[in-house]
Amino acid sequence: MKSINAIRMGGADVLPIVEGGKGVAVSNGLSSGHWAASGGAGTFSAVNADSFDETGKPIPQVYDGRTRRERHEELIAYAIRGGITQARQAYELAAGRGRIHANILWEMGGAERVITGVMEGAKGLIQGLTCGAGMPYRLSDIAQKFNVYYYPIVSSARAFNALWKRAYHKAANLLGGVVYEDPWLAGGHNGLSNGEDPHKPEDPFPRVLALRKLMRTFGLDQTPIIMAGGVWWLEEWEDWIDNPDLGPIAFQFGTRPLLTQESPISRAWKQRLLSLKEGDVFLNHFSPTGFYSSAVNNGFIEELRARNERQVAYALEPVGEHTAEYGVGPRKRPVYLAPGDLTRVHGWEDAGYTEALRTPDTTLIFVDREKATEITRDQVECMGCLSHCRFSNWSQEPPDYSTGKKADPRSFCIQKTLQDIVHEHADPESIERNLMFSGHNAYRFASDPFYGNGFIPTVKQLVERILTGR
Ligand SMILES: Cc1cc2nc3c(=O)[nH]c(=O)nc-3n(C[C@H](O)[C@H](O)[C@H](O)COP(=O)(O)O)c2cc1C
Ligand code: SF4
Repeated sequence: MKSINAIRMGGADVLPIVEGGKGVAVSNGLSSGHWAASGGAGTFSAVNADSFDETGKPIPQVYDGRTRRERHEELIAYAIRGGITQARQAYELAAGRGRIHANILWEMGGAERVITGVMEGAKGLIQGLTCGAGMPYRLSDIAQKFNVYYYPIVSSARAFNALWKRAYHKAANLLGGVVYEDPWLAGGHNGLSNGEDPHKPEDPFPRVLALRKLMRTFGLDQTPIIMAGGVWWLEEWEDWIDNPDLGPIAFQFGTRPLLTQESPISRAWKQRLLSLKEGDVFLNHFSPTGFYSSAVNNGFIEELRARNERQVAYALEPVGEHTAEYGVGPRKRPVYLAPGDLTRVHGWEDAGYTEALRTPDTTLIFVDREKATEITRDQVECMGCLSHCRFSNWSQEPPDYSTGKKADPRSFCIQKTLQDIVHEHADPESIERNLMFSGHNAYRFASDPFYGNGFIPTVKQLVERILTGR
């Protein structure tokens, strides 16, 4: 194994390893502070981060507002307070070593207000801002305002080209690095573009090389590229390290740091990671953000899959093959299905999936009564955690704060489920009923001898292992 040298990143010499941001509350002040203390860059998630009471317990985010807009304001206040809390903790733990970065999701509700509030309240504590999902053109302006480095997360050279030409060229000196996140392998949301096939993963090397070639045309020869997605340890990336074609390179980890002593996820989640098999992590399209995402195929994902499969197209008038009348809802409003679909619907009804819910694509899905009640309740209780939500049709844009589309019951409330899985430690079932984001490499926990006998390393031990290999 080659020896790993520090690289210049964000104005400091650091180890070329980064803990990626993980919302909500999965990478936090504790995990990122320890990571930075080990010499790399630690990223806490500033997406609805936790703040603590005097005993150190997370303060539950309870919403009193009567409208979605009122609750959205409460959510922003929670997020700012939480981000400042995590930044303080990370900074204290790092004690001047490594770098502390804050991660936001551009598509999160009030993203700009939240990060501005956090940066104002945590002056001097955060050394970098990372941001993915969507096209965060405004990231460079925010970084300039607070004079910190910024790290856009992209999944293609094309995306970086657009960001650079429109905005980032005006803040070249603060561009700390560009994160290339492999859209087929990384955990969390994935930046697959319309032309990319989720079933046909592409080799990251030519894609990262294309990014470097493009960056060179902008004079960014020495700006690190941070490779994220599918990195287990550096021994497997020796061809990438000190490779003159690629230039300065660092590596970002999201999945491996889930399994450390300091990681805030529950014991049940950690145990589940140790038993995953290849193929258990599934690229799905259910997220209310509209992005693909990678998660463990658990009870939560299976229910969404089944809900999406129990789906038929309808017409409001008898037309073409839609000739079979079917009554929807308590008033049995007539719609018209293909006769074969009506037979399938009767089969679902016999199995207990009696409730037909309309989707924005002129289809119906079928769920049982309990699920229908839960879907409606989650939509009604929305607190506007995204800028636009496919599930509830919330939009943060005035005047009507709606996407203008029908709410989509094929999706789910990501805020509710991510809060539940990270905070519900007492109930081991919470990892079956909630979204469990994960990278596709997670099956390697089971076979990597490092984790033999259920060993769970500290962050420091993990960092050493990543650097030295076997
Ligand atoms: C549980 C989990 C949550 C994540 N949440 C976010 C997030 O909120 N924002 C983000 O930019 N990336 C997120 N990621 C992606 C990671 O920061 C990282 O880039 C990615 O996991 C790297 O790939 P790996 O999973 O193969 O290590 C998440 C990843 C995981 C596993
Ligand atoms: S319904 Fe959508 S916008 Fe509302 S809280 Fe849930 S995920 Fe966020």
